Amino acid sequence: MRKGLVIFLVINLLIVAFLIHSVSSLLALLIIDGSADAIHQSEIPAPNSGMIDTRPQLIPKIIHQTYLNESIPDHWKEAQQSCIKLHGDYEYKLWTDKKSREFIATEYPWFLETFDNYEYPIQRADSIRYFVLSHFGGIYIDLDDGCNRRLDPLLSYPAWVRRTLPTGVSNDAMGAVPQHPFFLTVIDSLQKYNRKWPLPYVTVMYSTGPLFLSVIWEEYIRWGTSDEGRVRVLMPDEYNKHSWSFFSHHRGSSWHGKDAQLIFWVSVYLREISE
Ligand SMILES: *[C@@H]1O[C@H](CO)[C@@H](O)[C@H](O)[C@H]1NC(C)=O
Repeated sequence: MRKGLVIFLVINLLIVAFLIHSVSSLLALLIIDGSADAIHQSEIPAPNSGMIDTRPQLIPKIIHQTYLNESIPDHWKEAQQSCIKLHGDYEYKLWTDKKSREFIATEYPWFLETFDNYEYPIQRADSIRYFVLSHFGGIYIDLDDGCNRRLDPLLSYPAWVRRTLPTGVSNDAMGAVPQHPFFLTVIDSLQKYNRKWPLPYVTVMYSTGPLFLSVIWEEYIRWGTSDEGRVRVLMPDEYNKHSWSFFSHHRGSSWHGKDAQLIFWVSVYLREISE
């Protein structure tokens, strides 16, 4: 009887310890909020400001987007054109499926097998954006994000990602100089994270999508970096909330973009309890 009670208590203790461990990791995700690296409102001149931004522009003037082929659907054309029109002096690169595969085959042949064998096309669309940013530098923008003003002020940071609420960062708008250590880490990590999970959504989120990027980001910033290695964080206000924000959201949301925070949390939780 006594022995039974001890075993019962030990099992309960283990369960409680397991739960505390899960919750504490989850809380750690909330504590690492990127605020130390936030791009401050005061750093960014207003869209029509007369202030002269004297900071050096580090990121090359290239806009990258991805789509199946050259036939952009009508509901994304307006967003796409808004970025192209505002940035006549930027190079514009549309990464179609064909161009993406050729690029990986030529420049990153070690990744081609993983790239070809991704089960979901969105995994290729996710991963190619990390490779082109790492390779050429520039700014990647999802096709459903229109440009609300010129992106020049964002060229002054060696790298930046966009903060999402309640946790993590997204991969729908990002910028970097070529060979930035963060994006090198990202492309180096893709094979390790190429695992299948019970839900397709979790598989995509955690192998190549925003959850994958968030996890790599957290691990990257946890140990601190040099100024050049730093990844600055574009906060929601500067992203698309106001007339002075950089982007504007258009109809036809990409399927794991903006409305997925609940599922994001579930997948974070699944990851925590599976470790
Ligand atoms: C692009 O793909 C769509 C859907 O598969 C197809 O209808 C369209 O003809 C393609 N366009 C080109 C230029 O290949």
